[in-house]
Order: sequence, then C-alpha cells, then structure tokens
Amino acid sequence: MKSWDIIVIGSGISGLNFALRAAEKWQRVLIITKKKVAQSSTNFAQGGIAAVLSKLDDFKKHVKDTLVAGCFHNNVRAVEYMVRHGPSAITRLIELGVPFATHNGELLLTREGAPSGRANNLASLRLGLEGGHHERRIAFVSDYTGQAIETVLVEKVRKNPHITLMEHTFAVDLLVKNRCCYGVQILNSDRCENKYAKTVILATGGIGQIYGHTTNPSISTGDGIAMAARAGCRFRDLEFVQFHPTAFSRKGKCSFLVSEAVRGEGAYLRNSAGERFMKKIHRLAELAPRDIVSRAIFEQEKNGPVYLDLRHKDAKKIEMRFPQIYQKLKSYGIDMARDLIPISPAAHYLCGGIRVNLRGETGIKNLYAFGEVAGTGVQGANRLASNSLLEALVFSDRIVKEKRLRVKGRGLRVKNFMIKNRKLQLMSKKEKYLCRILRKRLKQMMWQYVGIVRSVAGLLQAQKVLEKLLQEAEKIRGAEPDTLELKNMLTAAQLITKAALKRQKSLGCHYIAFSSAPHTRSVAS
Ligand code: FAD
Ligand code: SIN
Repeated sequence: MKSWDIIVIGSGISGLNFALRAAEKWQRVLIITKKKVAQSSTNFAQGGIAAVLSKLDDFKKHVKDTLVAGCFHNNVRAVEYMVRHGPSAITRLIELGVPFATHNGELLLTREGAPSGRANNLASLRLGLEGGHHERRIAFVSDYTGQAIETVLVEKVRKNPHITLMEHTFAVDLLVKNRCCYGVQILNSDRCENKYAKTVILATGGIGQIYGHTTNPSISTGDGIAMAARAGCRFRDLEFVQFHPTAFSRKGKCSFLVSEAVRGEGAYLRNSAGERFMKKIHRLAELAPRDIVSRAIFEQEKNGPVYLDLRHKDAKKIEMRFPQIYQKLKSYGIDMARDLIPISPAAHYLCGGIRVNLRGETGIKNLYAFGEVAGTGVQGANRLASNSLLEALVFSDRIVKEKRLRVKGRGLRVKNFMIKNRKLQLMSKKEKYLCRILRKRLKQMMWQYVGIVRSVAGLLQAQKVLEKLLQEAEKIRGAEPDTLELKNMLTAAQLITKAALKRQKSLGCHYIAFSSAPHTRSVAS
C-alpha cells in the first residue's frame, strides 16, 4: 500500500504554499482538492496582503493595528511572529513571480525566480490602505491579488516533480485513532478510498457558505472544521465570524465583493439620505475596523439602502486601479466612478478555527492546520484587513523548520468517519431536493440568528433549528459531495452557535444586543 510523506487537503494559498515548502525536503507530497485547483477563497482575494514595507512603518505599528482591530483578544506572540515575518513572505512571493504593483509600474523580476535586488524591491512597492491600518502597508496586484498569487503557486506546484495534485477529490474524513492521524478518506468521482500519510495538513479554508449572504466561493463549506470536530480537535474563537461591509447588493442579494481598498482610495459610505454616517461613528470614518463599519451599515439599512460613493474621485484613476470590479459593476449597468454603488455586509471570514500552536499542530499527532481553517489566535475578535493571506503564508512557511516527519501506523484501518460503506449509494431525486432545501434553510437561519447582530434568544432558537436540520440531513443516505458538504455546514454552524452562546458579552465581530430585532434582510435562493 502506498503511503505519502504528506497529504495536503486544500489548494488555496495555505495548502499550495505548504506543499511547495514541504517538497523542498520530502519527495512524496499529495495535494487533494475538491474542485478545480484554483477554486478557493484565495483566488477571490482583492485588496492585497499586509506587511511592513515602507520606511514610515514599523513592526510595532502593524502589531498595534492588528491588536486594536482584534479587540486585544489576539494571541500576541502569534501576531508578533506573523508581523516580523511579513516582509520576507512578500519577498518570497516576488521571487516566485507575483507581479505586485510598483510605483514606476515595472515588474520586480529580472527573470523567473530571480529578484532584481531584494531591498530595493520592497521599497519600490506601491502600497494600499484598508480599514484599521494607520499606515499604507498593503502589497497588491491591481484588484485581483489573490488570483495573481494563486496562479503563480499553481504553476510552481504543477511543475514540481515531488508534488502530485488530485483535483475533484473530496476529503471526507480524517483517519484518526488514539489521537494520531494516519491519513484521509477520500471520495473521487464515485470511488471512496483511504489515502495514508506520515503527516496530514488541513488547509480547507472557511465557512462563508453557511450564511445567506457571503463573499465566499462555493467551496467554503466548513469541511475542515467538521472533519476536525469528528476527529476530536479543539477549537478557538469560532464565534468571531467577520462580515465584510461592502458586498455589491442587488435585489437583496450580495453578488461579489467591492474591496475595502476602494474605501482606502477615498470612497465614502452614504446612507439613503445621502449622509456620510461613518464620520459620526469613528475617528477613522469609512476606514474604521470592519466590525464597526458592518454594524453601522446594518443600522443604516433599517432606513434604506447604503451606497459607496466615488463620484468625487478621478474616474480614469478609479477604472485603472480597480479594473475587475469596474467591469463587474459595468455588467450590472453601474459606472463605478459616476454612480452610487449599492452595498451591504456579507459573511466573509472565520477569525477562529481549529486550535493550533505557532507550528500548526492541532493536538492530534501528525495533523496540522494552516490558513483560514486554523485558529492561531492571530486575528483576535476581528481580523485586520489583508492579514489573512499573510497569516496563511507565514505559518505554512514554518514547515521548513521541521526536522523530520513521524512514520507509524501505515495501512491502519479506522472506522470513525462519515462514509462507512465503501459501496457508494448515490442520492435519489428526493434526497437531492431535500439537500437543497436544508441548505437554504440553514443559510437563512444563520443569517437571521447568528449574523451581524445576535441575541441570546436568537442563538437558542438557532440551536433548536440546527438540531432539527441535522436530524433531517441524517435521513439522506446518498453519499455525494453535496450531502457531505451539507452535513459539514450543519456541524460548523452548530459549533459557531455554541461558541456564540458561551460568550454572552459583545466583543469584536461577535455582537450581542439585548433586545435586537433579527436581521430580516431576505436571502435570495
Ligand atoms: P482557501 O483559499 O479557501 O482554500 C481552501 C481549499 O480547500 C480550496 O482549494 C478548497 O477546494 C479545498 N477544500 C475545502 N474542503 C475540502 C474538502 N472536503 N476536500 C478537498 N478539498 C477541500 N484576505 C486577505 O488577506 N486579503 C484580501 O485582499 C482578501 N480578499 C478576500 C476577498 C474575498 C472575496 C474573499 C472570499 C476572501 C478574501 N480574503 C482576503 C480572505 C482570504 O482570501 C482567505 O482567508 C484565504 O485565501 C484563505 O486561504 P486558505 O488557503 O486557508 O483557504
Ligand atoms: C478586500 O479587498 O476588501 C478584502 C480584504 C480582506 O479580506 O482582508
């Protein structure tokens, strides 16, 4: 039976970067990913990646901004580690070929893989600004930073002889016995099998899809969180779900993100009466930390729609700085620089996750977690903008410091997972319909009761509904990715609701109102 050195589950920034780093030392690295390789939140990241890159900035300032945004709920040691390693992480991306924007518009590379002079490189980067940052420190590639990073990492992975990539392969469950991980059960087309490895990495991203309105792609269904729960991992800070203030909103439905960098370039937020309401709420106005801006918009929406306004800016410059957002809005008949842009908050990021230390260790032997699925404590109660790509990169880089991987228990058969029978049963038509309905009800319910403004009564109600939805979901016997995702979403939603109920005082993006009207904005199917 073949055993891999390392199995990485997920092909966003954390999984791909980890695999590349691991392949510098080990020969047999397997990446499995449930859809096409580039389908990840990473690929959608717009604003950029934060690090101390200018002479005006220093580590202390970046640490302080991260802690203030996180309401000082952060793991300070992890924050300091991430911030200190930020500049070298950006340098590495430049070396790999990520074409970050520069002041003079020149590419920083002279030839593939060779920087044209490290120190000068970083100094010549053009830096963006986003909410909660007191300095310009965001390296970006136009308004498609994530796509630029993902493309480069995928290309390097495909060329690496030590890495095997399996697309359209769904990780069902971790093979865990006596708190030691031996591999993963996978579902590939209609085959279910076990893959064994000395080390398994969870890099499965976030949970946005459990909410009715989200910026996240369809892959963000909390699979890693649910697998880790079934394997016996511990979690931290799951109640802190971040809602991004400005997703484009049309007919009550959020379609895509309008980057915070747009406010960084001077966009105003206006309520239905045309007022710049953020000026009264926070010293940083539109650039206050995200939780504050999202809640303010939530309040304003009770009186009508809220808009981004760039009409006071140079239209040509806006079009050049945000070409993808400009084109997307244009396809809806909106001229980004001349029209008001209707926006609304949407679920964006899970600040907590599987409890890990700075090395990514989960407490289950041989099982590590990196990126959005992991809870390092870096993000505290509310993530500072553009610190997520940085966290994913810096912590997954640490593998180079590992001396050896443990080898034991190869070929072990374990039975603690979702698909018990290798002979797969497909979903019936009725089951498919039930699956769709349950997903819709979950999303609606989470938005209403475990959303931007919560109440104890609402959270208790959410718990009841979730139990019922789980009972219904258990009736679906067919084992296909859609059902497995639904069950994982329900598990993640239960864990988040439980964590929210434990914290009965507001902090960061977990906001408890004593007498709140639940968020009644409808959820389009
Ligand atoms: P992801 O990039 O989400 O990758 C997860 C991978 O796991 C995917 O390949 C997925 O298919 C795979 N997977 C999941 N479950 C399974 C399974 N069961 N079996 C097999 N494979 C599985 N952060 C910033 O710092 N700056 C930004 O500008 C920024 N902009 C953003 C814009 C948008 C629209 C969104 C949604 C997020 C943004 N973020 C940004 C957040 C950031 O992009 C993510 O937190 C980060 O990319 C997460 O990386 P990851 O590798 O942990 O997960
Ligand atoms: C954005 O571009 O607004 C997203 C940035 C982030 O999530 O950090």
